[in-house]
Amino acid sequence: MSTHAPVEIDRSRISELTEREAKRLDQRTPGSRALYERARKTLSGGVASSYQVREPWPIYLSHGRGPKVWDVDGNELLDFHNGFGSMVQGHAHPAITRAVTERIELGTHFAAPTEDAIVVAEELARRFGLPKWRYVNSGSEATMDAIRIARGLTGRDTVVKIAGSYHGHHDGVMVAIGTQLVELGGREDYASVPYGAGVPKAVAGLTVPVPFNDAGAMARRIERLAEGGRLPACVIMEAAMMNLGVVLPEPGYLEAVRELTRQHGILLIFDEVKTGLCIAAGGATERFGVTPDLVTIAKALGGGLPSGAIGGTEEAFEPVESDAVVQVGTYNGNPLSMAAARANLLEVLTPAAYAHLDELNRHILRRCEDVIASYGFPGYAVGIGSKGCVTFSPRQIVDYETFKANQDAELCELAWLYNMNRGIFMTPGREEEWTLSITHSFEDCDAFVAAFEEMAADLTA
Ligand SMILES: Cc1ncc(COP(=O)(O)O)c(C=O)c1O
Repeated sequence: MSTHAPVEIDRSRISELTEREAKRLDQRTPGSRALYERARKTLSGGVASSYQVREPWPIYLSHGRGPKVWDVDGNELLDFHNGFGSMVQGHAHPAITRAVTERIELGTHFAAPTEDAIVVAEELARRFGLPKWRYVNSGSEATMDAIRIARGLTGRDTVVKIAGSYHGHHDGVMVAIGTQLVELGGREDYASVPYGAGVPKAVAGLTVPVPFNDAGAMARRIERLAEGGRLPACVIMEAAMMNLGVVLPEPGYLEAVRELTRQHGILLIFDEVKTGLCIAAGGATERFGVTPDLVTIAKALGGGLPSGAIGGTEEAFEPVESDAVVQVGTYNGNPLSMAAARANLLEVLTPAAYAHLDELNRHILRRCEDVIASYGFPGYAVGIGSKGCVTFSPRQIVDYETFKANQDAELCELAWLYNMNRGIFMTPGREEEWTLSITHSFEDCDAFVAAFEEMAADLTA
C-alpha cells in the first residue's frame, strides 16, 4: 500500500463523469440494447443469471479469442473479466479447442467414467497434495457437496463461514453476503443473515459467520458454539478473499485457523473456486503452504466448460468411499469437460504459464500503484497470481467490516464505464477483481492502466 496523502474526490465530479460515460456507452451499444429488448420478453431480466444483469441493458458478447472479446456491436475489448475468472487460459485456446473437438466426435456424455477423469484427478492430486477427488459441474455444487461430506464425517450440522464471502448459490452458504453491518451485528456474534429471499431462516441459522483475518474471533465463536452443543462440522473459507476485490490473509492467520480447526476436529474447507488454478498450479493451498482437509475448485478447471471438483484427504473422503455420504450427479465427470480439463491442466496451465501470470500481475499492479501515487488517488493496488484490483479505499481492506465501511460503489461504477469505453471488459458495477489470462501481454496490461490513469486524471484535475 502506498503512503501518499490521498486527495478528496469531489462526489459531484463522479456523478458528472458517470453521466458522460454512461451516455457514451449507450451510444456504442445499440445492438446490445436491441437484443435486450428482445431477450427480456422471455429471458428474465434479459440474462441467464442475475450476476449478468445491468442497467439500462447488459452488454451481449458474440465471440472471444485469446485476451479479447467482441460485443454484438463489434466493439473489441481486452478481457479482464474472463468469465468471472474461468478463462485464465484465454479464449478459444487451440489446445482446449482441439481436445474438445476430438472428444465431441466420440460422444459427449455417458454418465460412466472415462480415462480423462482419472488423468485430471491424478494431476489435481499432484497440484494440491490431496489424494482423493470427485467431480461436480460448478462451484456451488462443489461447496455444497464438500459441506455435506464434512457433516457426514463429523455428524454435526453447524458450518462456520467468513462474513462477506461468496461460496455459491445453495442455501447453506447464502448467508452474510452483501449484508448491511447493522444487520450483521457485533463482530463477536455476527448474525446468520440470509442472502436474498427464499433461503429458509432455519437453514441459514446453521451457518455462522465470523470475520476474516481474525483467528481469535473465530476461536471464541467456536468455543461458544461448542458450549451450546453446536461444535461445527467445518469452516469453509477462501484462503484469500475474492469478490471484495482481493483481500489477502495476514501472516499467520491461515496457520492459526488450520491449528484451531485441527484442535477441535473441525474440517477445514478451502473454497478455491476462484483461487485454485489461478493464483498458482496448486492454488492458495500451494501459495500459502497450508493444506485444508477439503478443497473445492471449479471455474478455471474446465477451460470454459462447466465443471468443478472436490479434493480431500483419505480421512475426509472416507464417508464418500463408504457411501455414507451420497456424492452423485448425472453430469459429474462429463467427458467433454474432462477432455477440456485434461488439456487445460497438462498443456495450457504449465509452469511457464504461471510464471508469465506472476510477471504480468507484478507489472500491472506496479503501474496501477504509480498512477495512484502520481494523482494522490484514494486507493491501492493488490493482487496475487492472475488476480488483482485497485481497491477504491484509502484504508486497507482486511475483512468485510472494513470493506463495507470504505467501499466506494459509485467509483466502481465509474471505473467500469471508463473501462468499457476504452476497450477494457470488466464485470459490471461490482468490486470484482481482474483475472489475467496467459494470452495477455504487457501492452494489454498497459491498456488497462491507461484507462485507470485517464479516470484518475479526470477525477483529480
Ligand atoms: C469463491 C467462490 N465459490 C463458489 C462460487 C460458485 O461457483 P459457481 O458460480 O460456479 O456455482 C463462486 C462464484 O463466483 C466463488 O467465487
